[in-house]
Amino acid sequence: MVKSRVVETEEGIQGEFDVQQYDQMMRRMRDKGWLETKEILNAGIVQGLALEVGPGPGYLGLEWLKNTQETSLKGLEISPEMISIAERNAREYGLEPRVQYVKGDALEMLFDDDTFDAVFTNGSLHEWANPVKVFDEIHRVLKPGGKYCISDLRRDMNPLVKWFMKAVTKPKEIRPGLTSSLNAAYTVPELNAILRESRLQGVTAKQNIMGLVITGQKAG
Ligand SMILES: C[S@@+](CC[C@H](N)C(=O)[O-])C[C@H]1O[C@@H](n2cnc3c(N)ncnc32)[C@H](O)[C@@H]1O
Repeated sequence: MVKSRVVETEEGIQGEFDVQQYDQMMRRMRDKGWLETKEILNAGIVQGLALEVGPGPGYLGLEWLKNTQETSLKGLEISPEMISIAERNAREYGLEPRVQYVKGDALEMLFDDDTFDAVFTNGSLHEWANPVKVFDEIHRVLKPGGKYCISDLRRDMNPLVKWFMKAVTKPKEIRPGLTSSLNAAYTVPELNAILRESRLQGVTAKQNIMGLVITGQKAG
């Protein structure tokens, strides 16, 4: 029996200390090759202007830019501290001409309809106050034919995998945050029920060992 969801935050990751710790964790994951970059490339997201929702310190989007040609990226992030770190990281990659971070809430995106060739997001879904609204916004801002890839943790992850994941997470000060994220994450059946209420129609979430992923395309 899976325990009920416990809301973690509806305001994103705020505060200098938490943001610095999160950056250290993701930088180490990047260095170990543990980011979801391949998932995004395998979803066919390889060209044009993409939107990343909740980029945090930005490594995933920056790796995507590094692995694609003539692409550009906007990152929509609710936390100003995260934006500062993502901008610093973009400079470190030498990619600042191809990326722009914008402060805003995924529930009400400040972009016109049909703007992006693709949308991707990892690890942010469990923090959204209303995922149906965000899925509708993703559909609205995508161009016809635009692709999306949404991934996150899964609350019903195998306990052994959960234990292993916590053990390898560093710095260790971030481990309580990982537990609260796991407790706030969705299961595949919960997410499929949410998807059925949204404009992202005809897709289902798939589970993998660490989490879940939704990939699809807006009708052309
Ligand atoms: C757990 S972090 C994941 C960061 C990054 N995508 C990654 O894979 O490491 C979630 C990020 O989503 C942001 N976020 C949460 N809710 C948001 C919202 N409603 N709109 C925009 N960003 C949001 C948080 O501030 C945080 O930076």
